[in-house]
Amino acid sequence: MPFYQRLGDVPRKRHVQFRDNGTLLTEEVMGLEGFTGNESILYHLHSPCRVMELGPFEPIMREEWVPEAHAHRHFKTFDTAPEGDEITGRRLLMWNNDVEISLCRPSAAMEYFFRNGEGDEVVFVHEGSGTLETIFGELPYTEGDYVVIPRGTTYRFRPEGPQRYLVFETPGLIEVPRRYRNQYGQIMEGAPYYHRDIHPPTELHTVREHGEFPVKVRVRGGYQTYVVDYHPFDVVGWDGYLYPWTFSIHDFEPITGRIHQPPPSHQTFQGQNFVICSFCPRKLDFDPLAIPIPYHHSNLQSEEMIYYVSGNFGSRKGVEVGSITLHPSGLPHGPQPGLAEKSIGLHETHELAVMCDTFQPLKLSRFAQSLDDGTYWNSWYANSDVASDAGLTSHL
Ligand SMILES: [Fe+2]
Repeated sequence: MPFYQRLGDVPRKRHVQFRDNGTLLTEEVMGLEGFTGNESILYHLHSPCRVMELGPFEPIMREEWVPEAHAHRHFKTFDTAPEGDEITGRRLLMWNNDVEISLCRPSAAMEYFFRNGEGDEVVFVHEGSGTLETIFGELPYTEGDYVVIPRGTTYRFRPEGPQRYLVFETPGLIEVPRRYRNQYGQIMEGAPYYHRDIHPPTELHTVREHGEFPVKVRVRGGYQTYVVDYHPFDVVGWDGYLYPWTFSIHDFEPITGRIHQPPPSHQTFQGQNFVICSFCPRKLDFDPLAIPIPYHHSNLQSEEMIYYVSGNFGSRKGVEVGSITLHPSGLPHGPQPGLAEKSIGLHETHELAVMCDTFQPLKLSRFAQSLDDGTYWNSWYANSDVASDAGLTSHL
């Protein structure tokens, strides 16, 4: 998506004969918005329509939790037991019509290939590394990477070591924020990252194997399995603007100011009615009268979920690595009592966190209910012990 790429062999012009040992290859245009959006052109050994067997369709079932009270929430995810693989192990936390947010700690290898046929995905890698094997080639990833997978990408995870992900799935597009790009698409000066920070697939290996290969496709609210008689990574070359890529949260260049910068300065991606932001270690506001932690704010038209990755927020009672706070719409939120005063004179923060703000309300799952601490809503109450013991979280 961010810029033109090419891997493997492609013919001199599009839509002309291209052969592999005399056999005419199958050209596939994989594109968005009809034939007017970004696209890539892939050259296959086999027709990508070739299906040997139709497998089962499994509808996606969501178990909703409707809390008795509308309140700020704190979910502790760290001790979630590993289960499933990189797809079946996604445990849905919250969702609306624009985005689904899941936690994933896979314990099993994917015995099939996967393709999201109805949405884009962002996998934030909290722990672990490995390679995302894709039809566009190998995409290495490591801790701190956002792995951005556009719809239509057939892939399989090849993990190394224990894995922990925060997964976003959306029927919309995951994009570099419009205001970071000039009219030609180049990321401008002043944006918190540049094209060099975006990593496309590194190598393309054309697999010429035959056999029985299940491909699970997310489509129409469920998973449809197809069995094909050739290895799905049969591409000899491709070029275009549509492909999976990684961006490391550690390459996000924080923007700081003399007085406090608002959350949009941390924006990393734009989605359909939501944004994803990265809160990275940085110098804090440097005006002599600055208050380095945020003013209270009422996110009247958005919901704010923050996933805590690492850093010193442990001093804030109850919030730990893997914690998620949810500040739903309609309510003000801000630092707990005493924290603004306590923050004065601080020069830097070492926190690392991922935030997702949605413009429509989020539903909560039964899984989220099981992780809810049930007391966070009370942490602003002047007499609560949380207030006196609270540390400094710079980005509430
Ligand atoms: Fe906020």
